[in-house]
Amino acid sequence: MSSIKAAITGIQAYSPDYVLTNNELATLVDTTDEWINTRTGIKERHILKGEGLGTSDMAVEAVKGLLKKTNTSPDEIDLVICATVTPDMVYPATANIISDKVGIKNAFSFDVNAACSGFIYALDIASKYVESGGYKKVLVIGGDKMSSVVDYTDRTTCIIFGDAAGAVMLEPSEDGYGIQDSILKVDGSGRVHLHQKAGGSVKPASMETVANREHFVYQQGQAVFKFAVTNMADVAVEVMEKNNLESKDIAWLVPHQANLRIIEATARRMGLEKEKVMINIQKYGNTTNGTIPMCLYEWEDQLKKGDNIILSAFGGGFTWGAIYIKWAYDGKK
Ligand code: UT7
Repeated sequence: MSSIKAAITGIQAYSPDYVLTNNELATLVDTTDEWINTRTGIKERHILKGEGLGTSDMAVEAVKGLLKKTNTSPDEIDLVICATVTPDMVYPATANIISDKVGIKNAFSFDVNAACSGFIYALDIASKYVESGGYKKVLVIGGDKMSSVVDYTDRTTCIIFGDAAGAVMLEPSEDGYGIQDSILKVDGSGRVHLHQKAGGSVKPASMETVANREHFVYQQGQAVFKFAVTNMADVAVEVMEKNNLESKDIAWLVPHQANLRIIEATARRMGLEKEKVMINIQKYGNTTNGTIPMCLYEWEDQLKKGDNIILSAFGGGFTWGAIYIKWAYDGKK
């Protein structure tokens, strides 16, 4: 096994200015602040406004900030991976567009589509490149402009999602810090419960698909909830047991922010008190690939070298997984 581990050495995130509150949503659909808050834990979410702006524009803000704070020139980046389900275009990859906008010229880049688990899938893929010894500076980005695929006449989905992007720098570490282990899973039969019906090769865009509102998120909330609550907790516990970690050994759980009840169930199964769980769903909602880097960024200055951190996610596909990280630096913003 490689003696090189992949360590996160910097984080930055971007959340657009416009705040869409539960009360404003209640003017669009038949809902209440109380219902949304009780069932999901969400109070508000941020929305990217402005003609011609997409996921890459939020990611570019995060990447520029990350390069600046880690004192990195765009020329030094070897690889860029972007996890998203709302690419700027069907092709080329949003990672390519981000690289171009930031001036990254010496890298190759591609997107990963694993819905809400995309960021941890991308982080795991990136870690293998770093561990190979051939890649010194790798950017892993997670971002989504969910407002571009949310139907603001559907109260069962529009209340959940928001827009955001985050990015981390991955570098080789030879002193044992960094990504220790990961368990990633998929069950493609889950696609019936969460998908976008049209716009792919099976059902290309047509007047009819637009009229039928088939370019929006379709979700059977209860079914997804049932799988999410079990699988996100199971996989987090599995990665703990595989690495002989007890709850007292864990400094932080960084869960995908889909529903406060799913996060709390995962923490409970791991035996973690609330103080060790990063929760910001009340401010941002579910930003799909943005949730985990947004959390890491907001908590960065509380992270200490040597902290044992578990990332855990569940999303459409179904996809889910957990990553165990031994944090590599004392964080400061
Ligand atoms: O991130 C990737 C994966 N996604 C998830 O993990 C999401 C998982 N699912 C969920 O978080 C929850 O299922 C939701 C938040 C989507 C829905 O919450 P729920 O507690 O499962 O509600 P429900 O779908 O069982 O609906 C309960 C009731 C229904 O009314 P009836 O049939 O009991 O009269 C809904 O029509 O609540 C109604 N309802 C609403 N009422 C007010 C559904 N949405 C709303 C709403 N406001 N926004």
